[in-house]
Amino acid sequence: MNYSELAPPYIRAIAPYQPGKPISELERELGISGIVKLASNENPLGCSPLAMAAMQGALKSIALYPDGNGFELKDALSKRYGVEHASIVLGNGSNDMLELAARAFLSVGDKAVYSDHAFAVYPLATQAVGATGISVAAINFGHDLKAMLKAAVEQQAKLVFIANPNNPTGTFLKAEDLLAFLRALPANILVVLDEAYNEYLPVECRYDSVPWLRDFPNLIISRTFSKAYGLAGLRVGYAFANAQVADMMNRVRQPFNVNSVAQAAAVAAHRSRRACTGWGWSSSRRSAILSVSK
Ligand SMILES: Cc1ncc(COP(=O)(O)O)c(C=O)c1O
Repeated sequence: MNYSELAPPYIRAIAPYQPGKPISELERELGISGIVKLASNENPLGCSPLAMAAMQGALKSIALYPDGNGFELKDALSKRYGVEHASIVLGNGSNDMLELAARAFLSVGDKAVYSDHAFAVYPLATQAVGATGISVAAINFGHDLKAMLKAAVEQQAKLVFIANPNNPTGTFLKAEDLLAFLRALPANILVVLDEAYNEYLPVECRYDSVPWLRDFPNLIISRTFSKAYGLAGLRVGYAFANAQVADMMNRVRQPFNVNSVAQAAAVAAHRSRRACTGWGWSSSRRSAILSVSK
């Protein structure tokens, strides 16, 4: 019996995500130490000491299930960004956001648009639900928004994935170009704007997409605690979206998809307002934090 044949053809066709090789494995293989891995954009400076203390505190209650609704974390995000709880989705890393969006809104026969050389999970999340991915040719290794718009409209796609900045090519789309894209896109096509590296943008490139949610109810903004906050190992991400969109995403997520230690750390990291960009402490959206020491 070939058990793989029990899986639907679109699952069998998935080429598994290849994560970067763990440092320990490479060190064993090469017999060396002190490797610095760049492949996964992990934070070389680690997380806030406040997050570390919160994790230790949360361990005391590890026998209990986490808050499945993530009240404290939603509250922290809500207060900081002015987004109501009903418009927030929490996830096991922002990877979860990409998958929840695909699972909530795509099924067999539906189409999702993304760019060539964009984040590798977009095609995987699309394929895992039996939908068809349309990969649009890139311009200078970045998103060609005009071509993506054309493809989405002509192919009647349901979802568009955009990474800004993009991984792995590091390209960046200006706010005015994203806004022009959102204005031109029919409202029945959803856009996942993946801002995993948003906090790393230099001041002159920084933009605030959160107020766009008011004008574009088809917009899903996806962010993470993995990168700038140095919590990749814990897996915490979140999305902001129209309450109806968030509701659909919440319906398909696991009831306890963000563990209690991760929730506690993310709340503390957020409170610390220290996002570590590797080029110095970045400012939070609304406040300069250069003087914050922990
Ligand atoms: C563009 C982009 N989006 C999303 C993710 C997912 O990150 P996480 O699940 O750790 O939040 C990554 C991770 O490398 C990424 O590069």
